[in-house]
Order: sequence, then C-alpha cells, then structure tokens
Amino acid sequence: MTDTESTTESHATDADFTVTPYAVAGEVDYEKLLERFGADPLTDEQVARFPDHPLVRRRTFYAGRDVDRYLEAAESGDPHAVVTGRGPSGPMHLGHVLPLYLARRLQRETGATVYVPLSDDEKFLAKDQSFEAIGEHARENLRDVLAVGFDPERTRIVVDTADADVVYPIAVRLANHLTPATVEAVYGETDTVGLQFYPAVQATHLLLPQLVAGRQPTLVPIAVDQDPHVRVCRDVAAKEALPVEKPGALLGRFLPSLEGPGKMSSSGDAPSIELTDDPETVAETIRRHAYTGGRASLEEHRERGGDPTVDVPFQYLRFFFEPDDDDLERIAADYREGDLLSGELKELAIERITDFLADHQRRRADLGDLAVELEPYRLTDDERRRALETAGVPRVP
Ligand code: TRP
Repeated sequence: MTDTESTTESHATDADFTVTPYAVAGEVDYEKLLERFGADPLTDEQVARFPDHPLVRRRTFYAGRDVDRYLEAAESGDPHAVVTGRGPSGPMHLGHVLPLYLARRLQRETGATVYVPLSDDEKFLAKDQSFEAIGEHARENLRDVLAVGFDPERTRIVVDTADADVVYPIAVRLANHLTPATVEAVYGETDTVGLQFYPAVQATHLLLPQLVAGRQPTLVPIAVDQDPHVRVCRDVAAKEALPVEKPGALLGRFLPSLEGPGKMSSSGDAPSIELTDDPETVAETIRRHAYTGGRASLEEHRERGGDPTVDVPFQYLRFFFEPDDDDLERIAADYREGDLLSGELKELAIERITDFLADHQRRRADLGDLAVELEPYRLTDDERRRALETAGVPRVP
C-alpha cells in the first residue's frame, strides 16, 4: 500500500465538494479527487490496451488502481475477474446499466469472470424503504442484470441476503480489521451500526472471485464515489493473511442527469430514463427534460452554434450510444457550427437510446421465472465451500 492510499485519511470532503458512497455534493473536481483518494489517472497506453469500448476510449472511466495487473492477465489469458455490483434502491436507469455492458464486453473479449453482487442489505440500511420494497427492486434489477446477456459459465450473481451463507461469515472475518475510525474517516458519519458494518460486506464482494477461484487480478469498474469501498477492501486484504491480491479499480465519472451535470439518482425526483421505458416515454422524457447546449433562439443557434460539452443528448452519444469516433466528431462539429439544432440532436439521441433499449427489453421479456433464470448464475455448493475455506471460515455443521 502506498502512503497516499491510506484509508485513515480524511474522507473526500472540503469546502468545494463532497464525494463518499453516501453523499455527493458540490461541483466535483475529478482530478483533485484522484489526489485525495490516491488513485491514478489512466494513461494513453492503458486505454489502448483495454478491449475497445467507448466508456474507456473516451475516458468516462478515467482513472484506476492496479489496472496494469488486470491488463497483463487479460492479455496473457490468465484468470482475471470483474466485479460490478448494484444497490437495488429503485428501478435501474440507463446510467446504472452501462458498467454492466462494459463488463460484458470485457467478458466477451478476454474471458473475464464477472461477479455481480446486489447489496439489498446496504440499500435497506441507507434508504428509507422496507425490506419488501427493496426486495421488489432487487427482483426487477436482477431481470435487468440477466438481460445484459452474460455468459452463465463465467458469471456469478450474488444477493447479500439470499447468499448470506457465504457473504456473512467472510464479511465477519474482514470486519475484524475494520475500525469505526477507519469507517468514519472513509465514509463520514453513518446513521446506524448497520452501515458501519456494510463496508465489510462490499469488501467481501470484491474478494469473492479470488476466494472462489484462486488469486487473480480483479477489476472493479465503478463510479468514483464507490472508490472508498475499494480502498477499504485493499486495506483489509493487506492486513488479512488471505491468498488474494488487492482488487484493482476502474473509476468513472458520473453520467450527467438529464437536467444537467451531477449524479443520476434513482431515488430523487429528477426525471431519468429507465430501462423499462417504452420508446414514446424515452422520446417524451428527452424532448421535455434534456438539458441542451443550444442557443435561446433559432437564429442565434444558426449563427453562433451550440455547445456539445454541456449538451446532455450529445453527452449520452459520447458516453455510449455513438460508438464511431468520426461520426461523433462530425455531430459535435455540426452542432458547434449551428448546422445541427438541439431538437435534431435530441432526436438522434432518442433514436440510438430506443434502439439500445429495444434489444435490452427484448432479452428481458424473454426471461422466464426469475429463480429458474438465476440458477445457472448462482454460486454452486462447491464454490461456496471453497470460498469459505479459503477465507478461513469453514462451515460449522
Ligand atoms: N454499493 C454499490 C451502490 O450503492 C453497489 C455495490 C455492491 C457494488 N457491491 C458492489 C458496486 C461491488 C461495485 C462492486 O451502488
């Protein structure tokens, strides 16, 4: 562990902005955040070595930890894993599913094992919702995870409360090295002891691929607000004599909410595009709510041009929905020139997003009974036993 990485450093909050897993406020300075968190910007060389994907190529994922270790394993065909989880606090939005599609690409290109943990415990503790409500979200979210189209041979989906037989004993072992001071330094104050314990659970998620299948580079693609969880896990993994290496991270910027910069929230009132929205709803939502970089009047726009850097429909195309760099550049140029209008740019984004959602929704609709569909993705008895034994907490009876 480098000294800049210490988890006992103060959490990322100062006069300008705050970023913790439970609070994002102010205008986020992404570069400053890396200094505070002790993570590294992605180099051009690293970007070039990744399986090609717009989220990496255009640096929505812009930083990381131990990325080279992961890339080496991916390149040489050695075992390597990706962990990308979901907190089921509500229906999933476009922004939530993009890392899952990135993980699918990594799996298809280099055979990465993918773990998708669902932290229903965390969301019960962090949000003012009943277990019934969280459970309902979890079931719907699971359908979306399944609709992404992971390879069941190489993918495991874990639900904290449903897979507690394996998650809980390992979390307890890891919690033995997690002090309240560390938790508070990293996350700020938590309301309950439940949330104080939760970092041990998420640390468990990040180590599971290695506990099940042996030491291997593990990459965690997450929005940068989740980095504290990775830091805690790395710290705890180093203190424990476990046969694992520290998980690496691929850290992402927040996707702007439809109404402009900031974090897309599933629990707030801000309008957003849900994965189950039909094409009319998507079109209506974007036409009515999407923040544009256009000018106040048509004449002014034609004359002075728009600003793609703040235009949310353009940003959606850039993040994910326009894979071709030349086409994207042409769209940006036309917009800056005033040849392309905000309304036209919106229609372009609507078309791409509805195409993407149509495919996702088709796969979702093809799913049958959830428990049956989930079965091939669940940890096998053998895998459970191995994880517990490797973690040094063999089953009692
Ligand atoms: N805590 C994450 C959230 O609130 C969800 C999550 C749980 C997760 N386990 C994870 C994310 C492991 C990445 C890796 O969204």
